[in-house]
Amino acid sequence: MDGVTIVTHPLVQHKLTLMRDKARSTKGFRQLLNEIGMLLCYEVTRDLPLEQVEIETPLGAMTAPVIAGKKLVFAPILRAGVGFLDGMLSLVPAARVAHIGLYRDPETLTAVEYYFKAPSDLAERLVVVMDPMLATANSAVAAIDRLKEHGARDIRFVCLLAAPEGVRKLRAAHPDVHIWTASVDSHLNDHGYIVPGLGDAGDRMYGTK
Ligand code: URA
Repeated sequence: MDGVTIVTHPLVQHKLTLMRDKARSTKGFRQLLNEIGMLLCYEVTRDLPLEQVEIETPLGAMTAPVIAGKKLVFAPILRAGVGFLDGMLSLVPAARVAHIGLYRDPETLTAVEYYFKAPSDLAERLVVVMDPMLATANSAVAAIDRLKEHGARDIRFVCLLAAPEGVRKLRAAHPDVHIWTASVDSHLNDHGYIVPGLGDAGDRMYGTK
């Protein structure tokens, strides 16, 4: 699938299966989402450019690589996107965070914005937008629209599960935004849920319903 990387790492696939299981507890689901966030962060940053710097080890001088160029912004879409955040920040502790508050209107399935707060220098940063479920893609498209309005130019999207419909819609609206996901499932049902999916990610991670 063009513009999509499916993360097939065995740890990611194993943890995803545990999360899909409807018997998984809220605590277990949240823990797994955090762990997969870390693993997906590893994948989404895999091609960051390196530069050489001079350092001194206890045994002498050497030239060694460090990450070069743009700094990162993690942009979770509230509320389920927050489930990835701690895992990602544990690998990139210096990243800034942009919060984007969107919810799905249950009738129209359109994205309604209620909060937006982002660093002012988005244009100079790599922005990683995160939401566990890429379903209709209405929220993802709206979030990326807003980030671009605020200057973001270099954007990546990370999710746990995607529906083919959501992938097509996001790629059509923002062809410059590459997608990382652990799985592209079968389809969306009439209520906009991914099938077989894992249910409502926000409800499962916060124990609401
Ligand atoms: N959001 C969810 O939490 N689950 C879905 O299946 C679709 C959207």
